[in-house]
Amino acid sequence: MLKIVSIPGDGIGPEVVKGALEVLNAVSKTHGFEVEVEEHLFGGASYDVHGSMLTDETLEACRNCDAVLLGAVGGPKWENLPHDKKPEAALLKIRKELGLFANLRPAKVYDALVASSSLRPEVVRGTDFMVFRELTGGIYFGQPRGYDENRGWNTMVYERYEVERIARLAFEFAQKRGNAKVTSIDKANVLEVSQFWRNIVHEVHKDFQEIELVDMYVDNAAMQVVRNPKQFEVIVTSNLFGDILSDISGMITGSLGMLPSASIGSEHALYEPIHGSAPDIAGQNKANPIATIASVAMMFENSFNMPEVAGEIYAAIEGTLADGVRTGDIAAPGEAISSTTEMTAAILARI
Ligand code: IPM
Ligand code: MG
Repeated sequence: MLKIVSIPGDGIGPEVVKGALEVLNAVSKTHGFEVEVEEHLFGGASYDVHGSMLTDETLEACRNCDAVLLGAVGGPKWENLPHDKKPEAALLKIRKELGLFANLRPAKVYDALVASSSLRPEVVRGTDFMVFRELTGGIYFGQPRGYDENRGWNTMVYERYEVERIARLAFEFAQKRGNAKVTSIDKANVLEVSQFWRNIVHEVHKDFQEIELVDMYVDNAAMQVVRNPKQFEVIVTSNLFGDILSDISGMITGSLGMLPSASIGSEHALYEPIHGSAPDIAGQNKANPIATIASVAMMFENSFNMPEVAGEIYAAIEGTLADGVRTGDIAAPGEAISSTTEMTAAILARI
């Protein structure tokens, strides 16, 4: 029995999570296992009921399940709350509390959509790499932090164990991908913390000598991602650099609305689409459910070790795209537009 906590959240979250849960149920039937789904509040939806974006009850439920599926959180309604009450603060808290130290964000170009990239088709076609972003350390959490009238300050600090565990995870993933090349991205020419990062990554690499390791400065990496994205296979980097690089990496694929993500720790895992809550189209049956459905596929790969189920979901997504089914965000001018429920149904029909 797989125990899933579902957190639809705000905006288009509920619509896309609904579609993804239908896919989850469908594969559970075809593969003969049971799932139990428990729904909880998070983000604005939680704030409106409890006055808090993340209650202890939701956190407890996330601790006591096999995987969390999250839709999206936030929206204009909650934008003007004080800093510590904002959805962002709740997101950082859930990551820290669940120990989700690794954030996996794929940059994958779907063949059917090469034309939607902002880069030339020949530059992006075939791009398929994974960004491993450290998620519970670095400048996001370092102390001291603060600002007064004349000064603002944050601290970028990494402990040895923090770098070791994310590096190890990235190398293990690279191993599974047939010894893919790992690029470690830092700013070791300027920052001591980055030199430390680099040293530790190279220490961990001694256990993975069959894998090629390349060091790259973050400014150069930003340039390389748009110049020749196909050179990357696995990227491993710190929290802030990963925040920035994963956005640009996702964007150049032209499939931002279709990319899933996984946030994993040693005991818990959370899966969510990369896109936000898109309040402008919420409740209109227009949102693209593919990123959330692909997040379910990542769940089967990473949490349940059932790559064959994940493969079936990815194949259903690709087949549906190849058939020309398009939600508004990925339709070319003149192409017929399907709704959230139609896209979901088309994918379900292939499972
Ligand atoms: C992300 C987001 C978050 C981050 C924000 C919303 C706190 O940008 O998940 O990449 O910076 O980590
Ligand atoms: Mg970000």
